[in-house]
Amino acid sequence: MSRTPLIAGNWKMNTKVEEAVTLIKSMQSSLHKIQGVEKVLCPPFVSLAVARAIVKGSSVKLGAQNVFYEEKGAYTGEISPLMLADLCDYVIIGHSERRQYFGETDEIIKKKVKAAVAVGLKPIFCVGETLEENEADQTREVIGRQLMAASDRLYLISGMVIAYEPIWAIGTGKSATADDANRTIGFIRQFISRLHGNGIANTARILYGGSVSATNIADFMRKPEIDGALVGGASLRADEFVSIVKQASEIKGL
Ligand code: PGA
Repeated sequence: MSRTPLIAGNWKMNTKVEEAVTLIKSMQSSLHKIQGVEKVLCPPFVSLAVARAIVKGSSVKLGAQNVFYEEKGAYTGEISPLMLADLCDYVIIGHSERRQYFGETDEIIKKKVKAAVAVGLKPIFCVGETLEENEADQTREVIGRQLMAASDRLYLISGMVIAYEPIWAIGTGKSATADDANRTIGFIRQFISRLHGNGIANTARILYGGSVSATNIADFMRKPEIDGALVGGASLRADEFVSIVKQASEIKGL
């Protein structure tokens, strides 16, 4: 079963508009040339419109980092799926930083995923365990619960991507080992298979995230279950991000 690998750069709350323009311009032509891998940049909301103008006509796609679940109305400061549908293809939902700092629950995340899919956005739905949960051997239980909330059959058919991001590996420089990531992603695939059957499980793309760099991406991409990466810090450095995408293409590009 061949799945198109996907590398997404999550810029988080970094770059002013002008800096985002410079960063995208510095990598977009190199990224455009790399084939067989889907390339997604997720700049802050305020830079999405200008980013869209820059990547138009190239193979580089865009994603947002968050979304609200209502279409419109009196929700000061929120961004609706409809607003994003014109600007990007993907949207990160349920990132651990949203769960941790903004109180997003499985229930909220479920609504967001549903609302995003309804307007044709593809969620990059994040799951992952804390260090304490990992040490208490609760990884599978936690991820199972998170998956139950939002891995509907319809969402997966619509192209939802899942990102396994162990929280202790995010922004710490201490990634999971490729073997451990492969094992947990294999568990996620089995879980989806039990819920929705083999066909859907085998086509679902599941990424690893957490301190991915140009130095370790090859180890992850060589693993059979891992379909790509959600990259934080290293996606802010043009050369490094291009190198990550290039290596992913060399190893698994279709
Ligand atoms: P990191 O972030 O690559 O900086 O660890 C990954 C993420 O949070 O998506």
